[in-house]
Amino acid sequence: MSGGFLVTGGCGFIGTNLVRLLLARFPEEEVWNLDLLTYAGSGGNLDDLAAEPRYRFVRGDVSDLRRPGDLHPRLAAGGFRAVLHLAAESHVDRSLFDAAAFLHTNVEGTRVMLEGAREAGVRLYVQVSTDEVYGSLGPTGAFTEESPLKPSSPYSASKAAADLLALSYHRTFGQDVVVTRCSNNYGPYQFPEKLIPLMISRALADEPLPVYGDGRNIRDWIHVEDHCTGIVLALERGVAGRVYNLGGDAERENLAVVCQLLAELGKPESLIRFVADRPGHDRRYAMDARRARAELGFSPRYRFELGLARTIQWYVEHEAWSRRVRDGSYRRYLEDTYRSRLEAAAPCAV
Ligand code: NAD
Ligand code: DAU
Repeated sequence: MSGGFLVTGGCGFIGTNLVRLLLARFPEEEVWNLDLLTYAGSGGNLDDLAAEPRYRFVRGDVSDLRRPGDLHPRLAAGGFRAVLHLAAESHVDRSLFDAAAFLHTNVEGTRVMLEGAREAGVRLYVQVSTDEVYGSLGPTGAFTEESPLKPSSPYSASKAAADLLALSYHRTFGQDVVVTRCSNNYGPYQFPEKLIPLMISRALADEPLPVYGDGRNIRDWIHVEDHCTGIVLALERGVAGRVYNLGGDAERENLAVVCQLLAELGKPESLIRFVADRPGHDRRYAMDARRARAELGFSPRYRFELGLARTIQWYVEHEAWSRRVRDGSYRRYLEDTYRSRLEAAAPCAV
């Protein structure tokens, strides 16, 4: 195989882990990373690759491919064998404040990347998507690839739109599009606005932990390395025009996750506060990943309890990383999202 990969959003949580996996798994290939370095992207995540000749970082917006100078000629010359599109606005709570950036990056950005790949004759295109496009489940059952799309938030609606657009490029233009839909990731380099790193950083600082609603919402947790392996398997073995669900076989209530994390850190459950719920909060996600198992050979390696313990250890050992990404805008975001909710919440026994 030759030609190299173009990853978008490679300075974010999953992208950082995926860039490393691609470099290791394809020792002859270059990996280019197009990332705008929004609040969620940190160039520092991949600092250790500075001396790696096969790694190239390009700062730019996925919705404006012509700007990032040296990328465009390379793309136009058909210089990549695949595009792996991850760049997105990814946080549900932020999409409730202002959906504009979500539509810009997640929908228009996907259109531009699809068009860029098509014009350049790069046939293989992986759209990295989410279980949230399916909406919410009751207490039983699991999402299959045939489940209807019923997104609840502006974030998930923008991802559903992007999936449909990507699939339309397969149907209409014959582009080799594969869509992966994955459940909740955890692991190193996740921005501390998301449940697990937020709770770790707050527990370490003995700050109250804001659990939405009754804490009984269920997510299916997958270690980020297992997700990245699934993306690479979809790249290598996926059937064009198909969707593949990826899950971690680890359904847990939020409250159980938070309690486990407190136990690992030796912190008291009295830090927990039940705060006003997220509007439109999906109750339960669960993935039926049988297609990915059968067609891709996908099988998550991490057991959740072990993966969570290792993840906590990583955040404890990378306190400097967490401090670096928690800048002024992050602190303002915390104020806006949690201050009044925490003030209104009474401390409660779990
Ligand atoms: P993230 O927020 O950690 O990272 C997103 C990255 O995209 C950042 O580096 C950011 O700088 C970059 N970016 C944002 N807007 C951009 C733009 N206009 N142009 C170029 N770069 C831009 O997100 P993540 O959690 O790593 O998620 C990556 C992808 O995986 C997203 O598409 C998300 O929808 C999907 N996904 C995430 C999860 C999860 O649990 N985190 C699960 C399933 C699917
Ligand atoms: O399911 C895949 C999705 O997982 C991805 O598509 C998204 O990009 C990713 O952000 C994630 O979305 P969630 O909304 O599920 O993740 P989050 O970490 O924000 O929340 C996980 C659960 O924890 C959810 O039920 C809401 C709850 N929660 C979250 C926060 C931030 C709380 O109770 N308190 C909090 O402070």
